[in-house]
Amino acid sequence: MTDGTRRLRSRDWFDNHERMDMTALYLERFMNYGVTPEELRSGKPIIGIAQSGSDLSPCNRIHIELAKRTRDGIRDAGGIPIEFPVHPIFENCRRPTAALDRNLLYLGLVELLNGYPIDGVVLTTGCDKTTPSQIMAASTVDIPAIVLSGGPMLDGWHNGELVGSGTVIWRSRRKLAAGEIDEETFLDRATSSAPSAGHCNSMGTASTMNAVAEAMGLSLTGCAAIPAPYRERGQMAYRTGKRIVEMVHEDLTPSRILDKDAFLNAIAVVSACGGSSNAQPHIQAMAAHAGVDLPLSAWQEHGYRLPLLLNMQPAGEYLGERFHRAGGVPAVLWELHQAGKLKGDCLTCTGKTMAENIEGRESPDRKMIRPYADPLMDNAGFMVLGGNLFDFGILKTSVISEEFRQRYLSRPGAEGMFEARAIVFDGSDDYHHRINDPALDIDEDCILVIRGSGVLGWPGSAEVVNMQPPDAMIQRGVSWLPTLGDGRQSGTSDSPSILNTSPESAAGGGLAWLRTGDVIRVDLNNASCNALVDGAEIARRLAEEPAPRVPESNTPWEELYREKTGQLGEGGVMEFALKYRGTAKKGLPR
Ligand code: FES
Ligand code: MG
Repeated sequence: MTDGTRRLRSRDWFDNHERMDMTALYLERFMNYGVTPEELRSGKPIIGIAQSGSDLSPCNRIHIELAKRTRDGIRDAGGIPIEFPVHPIFENCRRPTAALDRNLLYLGLVELLNGYPIDGVVLTTGCDKTTPSQIMAASTVDIPAIVLSGGPMLDGWHNGELVGSGTVIWRSRRKLAAGEIDEETFLDRATSSAPSAGHCNSMGTASTMNAVAEAMGLSLTGCAAIPAPYRERGQMAYRTGKRIVEMVHEDLTPSRILDKDAFLNAIAVVSACGGSSNAQPHIQAMAAHAGVDLPLSAWQEHGYRLPLLLNMQPAGEYLGERFHRAGGVPAVLWELHQAGKLKGDCLTCTGKTMAENIEGRESPDRKMIRPYADPLMDNAGFMVLGGNLFDFGILKTSVISEEFRQRYLSRPGAEGMFEARAIVFDGSDDYHHRINDPALDIDEDCILVIRGSGVLGWPGSAEVVNMQPPDAMIQRGVSWLPTLGDGRQSGTSDSPSILNTSPESAAGGGLAWLRTGDVIRVDLNNASCNALVDGAEIARRLAEEPAPRVPESNTPWEELYREKTGQLGEGGVMEFALKYRGTAKKGLPR
C-alpha cells in the first residue's frame, strides 16, 4: 500500500534545488531540537500534531501527555513529528461564548497547515468545538488528517449516584430550585462529575463530536470512547501516529473520506446515541467545508426515524466508561449496519471501508447498547421544524421526558401538538432577572422564548435555550416547560427545546416581532411551529419596531465574526471561506 515514492509537499521547503540558500534557511532552525538536515531532506513525511491541549483548554489537556505516544508512533513509522498549538477553546469559561472560537481555531489552523512544511496531521480533539474546527481546517487544506480524541473523563459519582458532566448541573439546578439540596451540595455534585482528565463523560457535545468523527471515518476504529486515563488511550495515540504516516504515503486526504455518505453516517450516529443538538451546526459546517451538499432536510429524512440505542446521559442512564466497555462507537455502528441504516461502503482513515472496520462488533452489554430491534426509544433523532417564526429550528426528541409527553403531546384529539402562551426574554440576563417575577403569571400553558442569543445577537450563539421554569413551578413538581430560542443549548442538557432557530431575531427572524402573550402552536405531526398572529399585525409590529437591538462588538474578532458568519441552520460558517478547498494541492505557497 505504501510505496514511499510520492514526492511530499514538505520537500518543496527542504529540498529546493534552485534555491540552496532558501533550503539552508528553512533547515537551520528546525535542527536545533534534534532533527538532522539529512532527515529533513530525506523525504520522510513531516507530521503535524495539532495540539489542542493547554491550561486554557482543560478538557483536552490529556493531549499534552498523549502527544509523546503519538510522536513515538510517527517516528516508528518513519515520519518526523512536529507539534504546534492551536487556538485554545475553554467551553465553559469563555465569554461571551466558546462558539466564537470554532471559526477562529479554523482560520488559524488553515494557515498553519497550509503555510508550513506539513505532509499530514494528527488532529487532537476532545472538547466540543475542538473537533469540528480542526476537521473543517483539514478539509480546506486537504492534506491527510486523522482524528485522535483525548477521550472522556472517568465516570463521576456522588453518594452512590452516577453524575454526568453538565447533565448533573441542569438536574441539580432544578433540585436547588425545588429546595431539595443546598448550594454546597450543588457544588459538590457538580465537581464530583469531573473526576479525572478528559472531556465530558456524558453524551454531550464532546462525546457526540468524537463519535461523529469516528462515524465519518476520520479516526481509528474504537478511538472515540476510550476514557482519557485508560491504558488503551495511550495505545490509540501510538497507533494513530503510525497510521498517519501511512496515510501520507497513500495520499489519503479528507476529500477522499468525507463524501455525502460519511455525513449521513454522522447524522445516524447522533440519533442512535442521543447526541448533542450542537452536532447540527457542526456537522453542517464540516459538510460545507468538505464541499458536500447536505440539505437541512437530511436531519429529518436520515436521522429522525432512527431509534435511540445508547443508554447514556442525558438521554439515558450511564456514562463514558460503560460506553467504552460496551464496545463504544463501533458497537453502535454495527447495530445500525445490521439494520441497513449505515452506509458501509465509505472509505475510512484505516484504508478500509466502514463495514470492514466494524465487522462483528456486537456489544457485550445490551443494557448499554441496545439491539436495533429493542431500542430505548423509537424515532429519537432531531426533528426539523419551520413556520412563521423561523425557517429552521431543531428539536432533540430523545430527551423529551415522559412527563413532558403526557402533559403536552398526548392530549386527546390533539396528539403531538400543543398551544402555549409565549413569555419572551431578550437574552439570558433578562431571563434570569424576570423568570421568578409573579407578574409574568407563568403556568403550564406557557412556552419560554429567548431571543438575541444567536450568531449575530450574542454574538457567537449562546447555550441558553434550556431555560427552567420559575422556582415556584419546580417546587410543585413541574420540571419542564416548552422552550424556544435562537441560541443553542448544552449537549448535556435534557431539556425538550426548539433551538438553533434561523434566521435569528438579530438577523430579522420572526422572534424579533414576537411578543409576550402571543400564542404559539407547535405541531410535531407536520413539524411546524407558528405564532398565531396574523400577517397585518406582524406588518404593523415590524413598522413600529423595525430593527432588533444588537449589542456592540467588544473585540475585533467579534466584529469580524459578525460580519462573516452565517446562521446556525447553515452551520454558522464563514461563507467566504468555503471557496478555499484543497489549498495544499495548489503547490508551494510563495
Ligand atoms: Fe469541554 Fe464538556 S466542557 S468537554
Ligand atoms: Mg457545550
